[in-house]
Amino acid sequence: MKESIHIPVMMKEAIEMLNLKSGMTVVDATLGGGGYAREIYQKIMPDGKLIVFDRDKQAIERFKNNYPEIAENIIYVHSNHADVRKVLKENSIDSVDAIVADLGLSSDQLNDSKRGFTFQKDSPLDMRMDLEEKHNAMDVVNKAEVDSLADIIYSYGDERHSRKIARAIVKNRPIESTVQLAEIVKKVLPLNWKSKINPATKTFQAIRIFVNKEYEHLRIFLTDGIELLREGGRIAIVSFHSGEDRIVKNSFRTNARGCVCPDVIPVCVCDHEALVKIITKKPLKPSEKEIKNNPRSRSACLRVAERI
Ligand SMILES: C[S@@+](CC[C@H](N)C(=O)[O-])C[C@H]1O[C@@H](n2cnc3c(N)ncnc32)[C@H](O)[C@@H]1O
Repeated sequence: MKESIHIPVMMKEAIEMLNLKSGMTVVDATLGGGGYAREIYQKIMPDGKLIVFDRDKQAIERFKNNYPEIAENIIYVHSNHADVRKVLKENSIDSVDAIVADLGLSSDQLNDSKRGFTFQKDSPLDMRMDLEEKHNAMDVVNKAEVDSLADIIYSYGDERHSRKIARAIVKNRPIESTVQLAEIVKKVLPLNWKSKINPATKTFQAIRIFVNKEYEHLRIFLTDGIELLREGGRIAIVSFHSGEDRIVKNSFRTNARGCVCPDVIPVCVCDHEALVKIITKKPLKPSEKEIKNNPRSRSACLRVAERI
């Protein structure tokens, strides 16, 4: 199996923020090419414990294959990180010292012409991160009602031309390939000469998020992950677009709040306790140098919280 081609994004910043020490128990919720995992491994071994998640079996197989010398000391989980609570329980782990997630897709997935994540290569419209899931992007574009399609494209892609695109998709069914979908979107959008970004980018992002239920899983993962942290333990999340970052920001804010009673109630009746303090008041961004070396990092945003 080939080496990963993924270049880790904001790895130094994210891992420094976790304050890792030898002997710690750490969750890497998004193994991908394994850049973060290898770095964490160096810091916490020989006595530490590293649990890595990826819903893409290929990522796990590739890592095991390419790093056999460290592979046997790691707990691999081919599952959604939204299952973190259940998985840690199954492994008799009650709490952890640190959690990191570097969300979205790896370059290995994006560049794989069989996976259908991008219009740069013509391939069947798949977009599943986990190839064992039932529904793929082809099901969505060929079966969803026009209104549902428009809602998906609007809410997950921030695409203001969502209705027009949805109508064009329905009119041109069946749609089977990435390039076919990109051409349909391109035809109905006004050409914006100033933008270097392909007009189908937002539609592809929206369909991918919907197919993989990314927002639903992220919310569960953040809630459970924060509860599983030990006092002083940190959680660091790298996100890649505004919808993802909003979920991380809101989850940290909600968990950093003590009483949530409305102002009109003079005495607290909610018993709500703050679980974290927010370490990054504003999200950290990649350096100019990193963006220059790895343009894919340009939209990254790192937020960190600490369990109290
Ligand atoms: C950007 S890559 C991670 C790169 C990694 N940090 C590295 O250094 O190579 C994201 C990975 O997370 C996985 N992933 C995304 N969402 C997931 C989820 N909800 N549960 C488990 N894995 C997920 C993807 O399959 C992908 O392999």
